[in-house]
Amino acid sequence: MDQKTVVVGSRLPRTDGLAKACGTTQYLDDLTIEGCWVGGTVRARVPRGRIREIRQDLSFDWSRAVLVTARDIPGLNVVSMIRDDYPALADPLVSFPTQAVALIAAPDPETLREALAAVSMDVEELPPVLTVEDSIACTQVIWGDSNVMDEYSVVSGNAEGAFASADLIVEGIYRTKHQEHVYLEPQGMAAIPREDGSLEVIGSMQCPYYVHSALVKGLGFSPEKVMVRQTETGGGFGGKEDYPSILGLHAALLALKSGRPVKMVYDRKEDLLCTTKRHPSVIRHRTGVKKDGTLVAAEIDIILDGGAFTTMSKVVLSRSILHATGCYFIPHVSVRARAVATNTPPNGAFRGFGVPQSNFAIERHMDRIAEILGMDPLDLRKKNILKNGSSFPYGQVLGEGMSAELVLDRVLEMSGYREKRRLFAEENRKNPFLRKGIGLSLGLHGGGFTGSGEEYISGSSSVRVSGGERVEVLVSSVEMGQGASTVLAMIAAETLGLDLMSVVHHVPDTSVVPNSGPTVASRTTMYVGKTVQDACISLVEQMAEKAAELEEFAGKRFSYEKGVFAAGEKDRIPFFEMAKRLASFPGILSATARYRPIPGFSWDESTYTGDAYKAYAWIANVVEVEVDMDTFEISPRKAYVSAEIGKAVSPVLASGQIEGGSLQAFGYAYLEDVGMKNGSYTTAHLNQYLIPTTLDTPDFSVDLQEVPFSGGPYGAKGLGELPMDSGAPALVAAVGHAAGVFPEGIPVTGEYLHSLLRKNKKERKAGEQ
Ligand code: MOS
Repeated sequence: MDQKTVVVGSRLPRTDGLAKACGTTQYLDDLTIEGCWVGGTVRARVPRGRIREIRQDLSFDWSRAVLVTARDIPGLNVVSMIRDDYPALADPLVSFPTQAVALIAAPDPETLREALAAVSMDVEELPPVLTVEDSIACTQVIWGDSNVMDEYSVVSGNAEGAFASADLIVEGIYRTKHQEHVYLEPQGMAAIPREDGSLEVIGSMQCPYYVHSALVKGLGFSPEKVMVRQTETGGGFGGKEDYPSILGLHAALLALKSGRPVKMVYDRKEDLLCTTKRHPSVIRHRTGVKKDGTLVAAEIDIILDGGAFTTMSKVVLSRSILHATGCYFIPHVSVRARAVATNTPPNGAFRGFGVPQSNFAIERHMDRIAEILGMDPLDLRKKNILKNGSSFPYGQVLGEGMSAELVLDRVLEMSGYREKRRLFAEENRKNPFLRKGIGLSLGLHGGGFTGSGEEYISGSSSVRVSGGERVEVLVSSVEMGQGASTVLAMIAAETLGLDLMSVVHHVPDTSVVPNSGPTVASRTTMYVGKTVQDACISLVEQMAEKAAELEEFAGKRFSYEKGVFAAGEKDRIPFFEMAKRLASFPGILSATARYRPIPGFSWDESTYTGDAYKAYAWIANVVEVEVDMDTFEISPRKAYVSAEIGKAVSPVLASGQIEGGSLQAFGYAYLEDVGMKNGSYTTAHLNQYLIPTTLDTPDFSVDLQEVPFSGGPYGAKGLGELPMDSGAPALVAAVGHAAGVFPEGIPVTGEYLHSLLRKNKKERKAGEQ
């Protein structure tokens, strides 16, 4: 399967790099839209309640602005996503404090501020549910009849029975908190009414067709009356998977009522306080083990905090449960997973999509089991690691491509883990104030949609020759910094035997590009890339066939290689030359390919068993940290990462994704701490919500392993989310190793570390007495 490639696998600069580095890329906020007003949001301010009245202060001249409430919504008052439970504007129930109640558009920001200040509300407050514990206990019923938004279970073997054969049972409860995406460009959308009554909605987004569906439903428009176009997007990380549907609908409602273009761009404060975050989790593990470390049975209970409405919780939860046992084989498993509602802002998509939570829990739990057995965590992992032929709890067996052991061995070699683990412990005895630690973790990520998701959406991609010497890649997948523009163009260039510079992918527009699905789920390279490759093959085939109809080539059979159509020695016609000759035939210079189901995989949604993903990417992290025992400051020093991602289409971008994703995971592990009070986020500024800077970035060594996946273009698998899944438990293990504590939750802030050390000290004192 290892094909010789020219463009794919080469270290080319990214196609959007220069413009971004030079600052000439225009984001939504940079665009001047003629006659455009600015939009703002009136928010509820209470976690739960019933709106009695929305009041407009008449000392403000309301002819200067436009106010939209739920009554102005022409379609359904809903932001259509997986479920239609999320109202575009609260009416009359309020379910979280930053919920939008009304919208205002004004000609300029100053007038908008005045108008926003001139709206007040009479709200009857109701008792809120602020924690998952209260949600499960149903202290108040705030969603459905039990507060449980979604529930799944996965069972293999007979866990209850198998516990009896274990030598000991190890339990642990692991907690993770919210995480903020901190994309460089905040959320922003604009809506532009057109004279023919249609509406153009543009902005920073991952999923143009998601926004399109939400607009059609909320506005009650027919699909062709709405067109959605992405503007250059400065980062998404999942945060622009769901939220642009909300903001896009808000901008659209204002544009329709005011009859003019309206732009809504959040500043950092509004973005931090109002947009989705990663789902907090509480995950309980109970595991039966043999004295030699063999895992025999596990019970796992996963609870995700969904916030007030579903957004993506159903599918985030699905990924959580399917990745619950991580990279380990356990013969008897019973997992239950629930997403529950609270009166807090809805949590949404975030790189990793439920896996960082489950993987943190299983990896920490492996460390706990190792500690209790007195084994090195590495040996425990080696003993139970998935191998070719071992099965996941949902029944999938991979005959090949279980690369957990491959990446583990590589990272051990690179890092000198075993030797350093011993050495650091020794050094720490000599220097107890600045301690070193080293930690290890593994992770995996199923690429593409879960189960039959890819078959269900059945995305397609097109390519077309345009303007002489150009091939355009037409897909709904967006560039958001992750490199899709470069990678998809590289796949097309490789397939067509052209230079990368001859291929272009640009911001998608739903009236031009086919629906190749949303830019999510680590699916762009492996699935969209595959349909781009197939479309290129079709394009060449139909051009070759049509060429025989040209007078000069009558009856000749063309083959195609390296950018040239050839019929014998004499007739050698370069791609674009042939395109010119065929220009008069309609439809010959473009081709579309639809996703073709990959044989040999099956998934049963009703029993939640089968082949959950067609390919998994694998990762192993080793992290070295220093911990200052006086200030409790944690400093990551070195990070070694080995990842098996199938063919690396762009090794430069792949390594970049792995470094960036790992750093995002490290931030999640020890720095990033969303404050909460009465259902509201309190961290309103990046001086309160800390993320890693260059100074906090350890020295990275990244190793790419490429075991080709036959279903992906040139053997590629998905990798975007993988590094976010496994960095945190490695860093926490390293902190634990350094400081002699066992953190069960993240973030391991200085305060948390301090409390763990105090607890240790107290226990030691108690032991001495
Ligand atoms: Mo994503 S977190 O699948 O946008």
